[in-house]
Amino acid sequence: MSGLVAPKGTFDTLPPESARFLAVRDTLTAPLRRAGYGYVETPVFEDTAVFARGVGESTDVVSKEMYTFTDRGDRSLTLRPELTAGLVRAFIEHRLYAGALPVKLWSVGSAFRYERPQAGRYRHFTQVDVEALGVDDPALDAEVVALADQGYRDLGLTDYELQLTSLGDATCRPQYRELLTSFLAGLDLDDDTRRRAEINPLRVLDDKRPEVQSQLVDAPLMVDHLSDATKAHYDAVRQHLADLGVAWVEAPRLVRGLDYYTKTTFEFVHARLGSQSGIGGGGRYDGLSAALGGPDVSGIGYAVGVDRTILAVQAEGLDVAVASGIDVFVVHLGEEAKRFAVRLVGQLRAAGVAADTVYGGRGLKGAMKAADRSGAARVVVVGERDLAEGVAQVKTMATGEQVAVPLTELATSLRASV
Ligand code: HAM
Repeated sequence: MSGLVAPKGTFDTLPPESARFLAVRDTLTAPLRRAGYGYVETPVFEDTAVFARGVGESTDVVSKEMYTFTDRGDRSLTLRPELTAGLVRAFIEHRLYAGALPVKLWSVGSAFRYERPQAGRYRHFTQVDVEALGVDDPALDAEVVALADQGYRDLGLTDYELQLTSLGDATCRPQYRELLTSFLAGLDLDDDTRRRAEINPLRVLDDKRPEVQSQLVDAPLMVDHLSDATKAHYDAVRQHLADLGVAWVEAPRLVRGLDYYTKTTFEFVHARLGSQSGIGGGGRYDGLSAALGGPDVSGIGYAVGVDRTILAVQAEGLDVAVASGIDVFVVHLGEEAKRFAVRLVGQLRAAGVAADTVYGGRGLKGAMKAADRSGAARVVVVGERDLAEGVAQVKTMATGEQVAVPLTELATSLRASV
């Protein structure tokens, strides 16, 4: 009989490494909580139309990578490949646009894409997602970008760069698209690439193959064809970013894998992650709300890949503070002592002290080993004789020092020591 394993492209996060996952996730979200963003949870599955209309039918994400299924009520549902479309769906459904603007939201959770798995690319992964809706102000674009940057900085990351560009909007992108299409028509491209060019010519700019890149040296770029208004918008975003002390590189050929982007568009790329180097990305998506049947309001946001950020943290050899979970470990010898230990651990936990004890008769040696492994700074040893004398032995692990503490003072003294 073969054992069951996690599905291809997925993995389990187990202790003690899971503490790093929590630390990274919480470090990435702390700047959002400090900046007035409110937490939102949406379902991990949505009507398929949310993504088909939101992310765009021509993207790989929608056309090849979605986990779509029909439920028992004959509805077509899809496990979310990203969080933005669902958040905007909720923004519309609950009429958040009718309140104070901008509406600033964040979320964190699972996303699912049927991709070819490799290091840093999974079928189930975790994103921290941020969206600011309802206001088109370049200062808000800069705020959103700076928040992502702050999360990486707080983790201690340094070997990454922010790639930035503007993808224009409905006033200038159609003309640029035509220009690019006629430029691409004159190149020597294979059929597949031609087909891609027909659906979205901008995608071709992102083609990594040298034989394609070499032909694209003189390709027209969106940033050189922005309307006056979108150019002014982009200039203002860069001004604010400079004021906020955020460094970037111009990335006029940046193309994102999702179709909803307009104007400011960006990606954070880490230098030590090989081909899956995007640790986060996002941009403005001024048509998304309307595409999902909502009011024609603007929005900007990003998502950070938590799993890839953990790889970046490891690649830079950073020690993200992973505190031991346990402050006090109680070792007991004998039945009476066990009852006492279980009660003491309950009292300590209720008082906010992280405490644990040993279960299943392990003997003194095994119990001390468990105490050691727990990482607790203090270990309480209590035997029948101690109980009779009304004391317990409290050992400070760092120094090895051991003192007898009266049982009546034990809980208070341990509470004071953490
Ligand atoms: P995205 O660039 O598709 O954007 O994904 C954001 C991040 O999620 C990526 O930079 C990467 O770190 C991580 N990621 C994506 N796919 C995978 C995968 N298969 N395995 C591991 N990590 C992955 C979005 O999802 C947009 N919703 C971002 C956004 C929010 N734009 C506006 N608001």
